[in-house]
Amino acid sequence: MAEIISGKVISAAVKERIAKEVEALKQEGTTPGLAVIIVGSDPASQVYVGSKERTCIELGMYSEKYELPETTTNEELLSLIDRLNKDDKIHGILCQLPLPRHLDEGKVIAAISPEKDVDAFHVQNVGRIMLGDYDFLPCTPAGIMEMLKYSNINPEGKHCVVIGRSNIVGKPMAMLMLHANATVTICHSRTKNLKEICKEADILVASVGKSKFVTADMVKPGAVVIDVGINRDQNGKLSGDVDYENVEPLCSAITPVPGGVGPMTIAMLMQNTLTSAKRSKIN
Ligand code: GUN
Repeated sequence: MAEIISGKVISAAVKERIAKEVEALKQEGTTPGLAVIIVGSDPASQVYVGSKERTCIELGMYSEKYELPETTTNEELLSLIDRLNKDDKIHGILCQLPLPRHLDEGKVIAAISPEKDVDAFHVQNVGRIMLGDYDFLPCTPAGIMEMLKYSNINPEGKHCVVIGRSNIVGKPMAMLMLHANATVTICHSRTKNLKEICKEADILVASVGKSKFVTADMVKPGAVVIDVGINRDQNGKLSGDVDYENVEPLCSAITPVPGGVGPMTIAMLMQNTLTSAKRSKIN
């Protein structure tokens, strides 16, 4: 039987600590503020953005939500970001991805002030993560590191295999594992012998976006399995990238979906907003 690493439980502990720090900061006259922008009506994005706004309020932070129509132009979106960059009440700006196809994602990410870039997507923050000298945590990978720490799983000297090379998860995940002294392999859709490589992992991180992609024959007995996926299976049921039912009996620890990595990502976003608000007092 594997240990179930509960993002629900661990994120609650993280959020409790953040709420206390928010309260202390408010006593000093600063309320951390997060602005969340969503363009269009993608149902999954609407759920994520709603969750981010709710958590913000739950932790005593100030929240602004901008729901812009699908027809929003680059100019309109950049002008809103420019205004939020200059707004002292706002310490974090997040523009939910993916954006509608006619919008320029690169330009939008570049327009967010690096000091308010709580997603850590700006090239300056990405570079700092690469160097291991960063203020803003890459939310999903940092949430995973927090789960490992809480579960007393030390990546040092372990072979960590990350499936997926996205800018949001795969690449920064590999960096954080490397900073934690793991030996890291990144796999992707063109990787040959994927199954054999995964089977060598002490820690396997699945960020593929395909329901039940990681099957039992890809997992070394005793491995730690982290599931970043949020998919719907054939019956519309929420499922991860891991075939949980068949993998769980094999491994030493595993994250469930839902209630695994998802809540941790949001907790880390709140941490970044708090960090930004604290820093605004220094500058
Ligand atoms: N879309 C999927 N994950 C994320 C995230 O962490 N941040 C933003 N802005 N968009 C996303």
